[in-house]
Amino acid sequence: MIKLDNVSYRYPQSEQRALDSVSLELEKGSFHFLCGPSGAGKTTLFKMLYLELLPTSGKLNILDKQVNNISRKEIAELRRHMGIVFQDFRLLNKLTVWENVALPLSILGELSAQQKQAVNDILDWVGLKHKIHEHPNKLSGGEKQRVAIARAVVNRPKLLIADEPTGNVDVEMGKRIMHLLCELNKHGTTVLVATHDQELINSFNYPRLHIVNGKLKKDSE
Ligand SMILES: Nc1ncnc2c1ncn2[C@@H]1O[C@H](COP(=O)(O)OP(=O)(O)OP(=O)(O)O)[C@@H](O)[C@H]1O
Ligand SMILES: [Mg+2]
Repeated sequence: MIKLDNVSYRYPQSEQRALDSVSLELEKGSFHFLCGPSGAGKTTLFKMLYLELLPTSGKLNILDKQVNNISRKEIAELRRHMGIVFQDFRLLNKLTVWENVALPLSILGELSAQQKQAVNDILDWVGLKHKIHEHPNKLSGGEKQRVAIARAVVNRPKLLIADEPTGNVDVEMGKRIMHLLCELNKHGTTVLVATHDQELINSFNYPRLHIVNGKLKKDSE
């Protein structure tokens, strides 16, 4: 599903590598936590999985496709199978909450009645039924986060990557979000969740990946 082979990445004009010889394999249907201190490289790794960045060196394979030399069109096609919760949400303020969540589906054409229902259902699940006509700039941080999560899961992606998906919500909503990610995983979605929340990590029995200074370690290492 995902394979990184000695992948390094250095931001332009940066001296240090943000990712340093990272090798990683995520099997189809797996669930992993990604932990590590601030500045360790978690978001950079996510940007690479989402193909916003490409490796400076090393081999990257996403959804069973070698992506080192990939066209924009192929990137767009691969992203259709991914759900991503960005640390900074990246919602579109011009669109309503409902339209933001519908985006992964509406990009492919007119929504069917079933798809519209899926948008309503997921907004209901994250407790935002009453905000569907609002625009994201009028929402609280936690509400924005819930919109971002709803948008990431609405098309039942093959791969879901979530960068601090519970960072802005209360404990109860954090559990609810994790429960949703677990449900998706049970239905076959491969999940990777970056989090600082030790309590959250400890309450689930999923393997952990640790990243420090751009270097990745597995639980046992
Ligand atoms: N656009 C950028 N240009 C240059 N350097 C960057 C850029 N984005 C991140 N970095 C650097 O890359 C390293 C990894 O950053 P990254 O955002 O991946 O960390 P993180 O683990 O997500 O941290 P946090 O927990 O604070 O979100 C840091 O040293 C950071 O300063
Ligand atoms: Mg980050």
